Amino acid sequence: MPSDSLTITDNRTGKRYDVPVEHGTIKALDLRQIRTGPDDFGLMSYDPAFTNTASCRSTITFIDGDRGILEYRGYPIEEIAEQASFLEVAYLLGEGELPTAEQLTRWVEDVKYHTYVHTSIIKFLEGFRYDAHPMGMLISAVAALSTFYPDAKNIQDPWSRYVQRVRLIAKLPTIAAFAFRASRGLPFVFPDNELDYIGNFVNMTFAVGGRHKPNRVLQRALEILLILHADHEQNCSTNAVRSVASSGVDVFSAITAGVAALYGPLHGGANEAVLRMLDEIGTKDRIPAFIAAVKRGEGRLMGFGHRVYKSYDPRAKLVKKVADGVFEQTGMNPKLEIALELERIALQDDYFISRKLYPNVDFYSGLIYQAMGYPTDYFTVLFALGRLPGWLAQWEEMVKDPEQKIARPRQVYAGPARRSYVPLAQRG
Ligand code: CMC
Repeated sequence: MPSDSLTITDNRTGKRYDVPVEHGTIKALDLRQIRTGPDDFGLMSYDPAFTNTASCRSTITFIDGDRGILEYRGYPIEEIAEQASFLEVAYLLGEGELPTAEQLTRWVEDVKYHTYVHTSIIKFLEGFRYDAHPMGMLISAVAALSTFYPDAKNIQDPWSRYVQRVRLIAKLPTIAAFAFRASRGLPFVFPDNELDYIGNFVNMTFAVGGRHKPNRVLQRALEILLILHADHEQNCSTNAVRSVASSGVDVFSAITAGVAALYGPLHGGANEAVLRMLDEIGTKDRIPAFIAAVKRGEGRLMGFGHRVYKSYDPRAKLVKKVADGVFEQTGMNPKLEIALELERIALQDDYFISRKLYPNVDFYSGLIYQAMGYPTDYFTVLFALGRLPGWLAQWEEMVKDPEQKIARPRQVYAGPARRSYVPLAQRG
């Protein structure tokens, strides 16, 4: 019997099975041979929310949740955040290696070439109500892009995949900025391809009368935040992208699923929820009562806890550093004091200690976005801009992976046994 295997004894039948172990996993399909008789379908694993199921092999992002380690293609997040540009990170995630100077120039040029969106997208965005949530607008506009690029259906063509990835990275900031301006009734500012990626986005969001005075410190802070969000292996939205894309649909439709998943308050929407929570708490003296309510199960401490990190989220540490630089420029965000005190109290409380609940990336990011001038309901849009390269890299990897098929989980049926239809007149 090979040493890298697992022996399972089925106590229902007394039979023994040897199942290979590879990379610390067994293949769920290897369980199917474990049957009590010919009519038995075979054993399945039951894992709602995929808490202990690897859905793919990936070479993109490594996380060690216990030690608080995050690496993109092997590079520590701390080094990347300090030294790389966002487009360099997007290239690294998508292509697997850091670009050479020549590759980077080409990549940046390719992205700049595609920053404009079809003017019909503007008409489309104008159709929303004045108070539409920008995430709803983003979801819809990204889905709409698929109608402009029917060539995106050709997912087996590597060149077509590259072009669609470039289109999305180039156009998402434009759409995001348009959504921002629409909610303020401001005229749209078109891309300025003389500016760099972040500078162009900031200009499209904040320029008034054709002018915006760039603040390099704030722009670099925003760039670091986007880099910190760029990928995070098989999280809810990435899983949504992979799952939808596994049907063979175009990448615009698949990314739409990712943006929609990100919108939820347990995922990317947490940064927005943190700010609403801080507003609700209002003053430091109300923190103990708030914590007590959380411990009674009346709501969660938003921005705390993570499925994978069971120590301090390494991104949260870096976000805190970014905050210092930003608040030096903008003046202190008064809610920071409440957040710091909330963190101090929570980290000493047995409820949070015993459950290994630490601040995650969203705990401080919203405070920074707010100081930069973004409204609360816009924070998740910024998260989406950051996460896009990760979704695209995961999509590319999935399309090329011969082990991947259409995603189709099994279920444990727990409903009624077969019964006869009851005509309406006989139901009582
Ligand atoms: N506040 C209070 N209690 C919590 C929290 C929290 N933020 N998070 C988890 N718990 C408790 C939970 O009630 C449970 O307690 P018990 O064992 O007594 O039932 C225990 O900790 C385990 O929680 P879980 O819900 O089983 O953990 P999970 O891995 O399913 O959830 C999470 C992870 C991130 C959804 C969750 O921690 C959470 O809801 N956090 C708040 C929302 C948030 O900040 N989300 C952003 C995550 S990071 C960025 C991103 O992914 O987008």
